[in-house]
Amino acid sequence: MMSKTLWSEGVRYQAEHMPERTGSGEFISDLTRRDQVFSFLKPPFNPKVDVKNGMLLYVEGVSVSFDGFKAINDLNLYIKEGELRCIIGPNGAGKTTMMDIITGKTRPDKGDVWLGQQLNLLNMDEAQIANAGIGRKFQKPTVFEALSVWENLELAMAGNKGTWYLFRAVLSSDQKCDIMRVLELIGLETHYKMQAGKLSHGQKQWLEIGMLLMQKPRLLLVDEPVAGMTHQEMDRTSELLLSLAGEHSIMVVEHDMDFVRSIASTVTVLHQGHVLAEGKMKDIQDDPRVREVYLGQ
Ligand SMILES: Nc1ncnc2c1ncn2[C@@H]1O[C@H](COP(=O)(O)OP(=O)(O)OP(=O)(O)O)[C@@H](O)[C@H]1O
Ligand SMILES: [Mg+2]
Repeated sequence: MMSKTLWSEGVRYQAEHMPERTGSGEFISDLTRRDQVFSFLKPPFNPKVDVKNGMLLYVEGVSVSFDGFKAINDLNLYIKEGELRCIIGPNGAGKTTMMDIITGKTRPDKGDVWLGQQLNLLNMDEAQIANAGIGRKFQKPTVFEALSVWENLELAMAGNKGTWYLFRAVLSSDQKCDIMRVLELIGLETHYKMQAGKLSHGQKQWLEIGMLLMQKPRLLLVDEPVAGMTHQEMDRTSELLLSLAGEHSIMVVEHDMDFVRSIASTVTVLHQGHVLAEGKMKDIQDDPRVREVYLGQ
């Protein structure tokens, strides 16, 4: 349920900042309609993403070398629909390179990468892969600092339709509702007017996750989300990611073991571009091969 505060903030925002788009009265009546189900956050149905057997991402036998160095070496990894998976591993294990391959930034020398059973990601470019429902959050926040929090989310919703679409568009009630629900999820509902550049580091990270959510991805790839965060911000981030799982599949790369423990169901350990171990966090911690890799650092 949308909180009353957020609702009225949104109405006030509309009245103050976007009177040309729609009057606040119309906005309220849009939102109070009960005959429509908000499409909030649900990834749109894409018949090409075939997840009949519950598996969303397949990475099979993937290898890539850089100047003869095997950064990824016969990697096999499967992510179920709605799963929250943590990827850990020492520096240089190939975690970021794996994300580069899934998002089409790096082409593997060998192997297969599929989204569902029908979409071969290796035949698609980065934009097509993003459109198919894979969103990626890099370690450094990349929000538009001069724009407000609300405007950042609005811009993200336009996606690759471009800013021209955004300036011409009158937001539908569903779209406004999506923005407000995302604001609430990322805990920035009282900061919607604030310039993104003035947010704390943690808040910027949440805003960027919110921007990804505006595109309703099926799979979210998140690289080191809590680096540089305070403990409190880390707790908020684990709550946020846990609340997104189920509706989305999420792959989180993280070095902070307390954080991993707080969210992990299944953990995959990468080492030298290969899966060294996979399982529950407790078993992973007790695995002598994993201990050796970490102690050897
Ligand atoms: N474009 C590239 N050209 C050459 N070498 C690369 C390239 N990208 C990655 N590498 C190398 O591949 C290996 C894996 O790097 P990667 O960044 O994927 O590791 P990581 O697991 O993300 O490490 P970290 O925990 O430090 O972020 C490293 O040895 C890195 O130097
Ligand atoms: Mg990395």
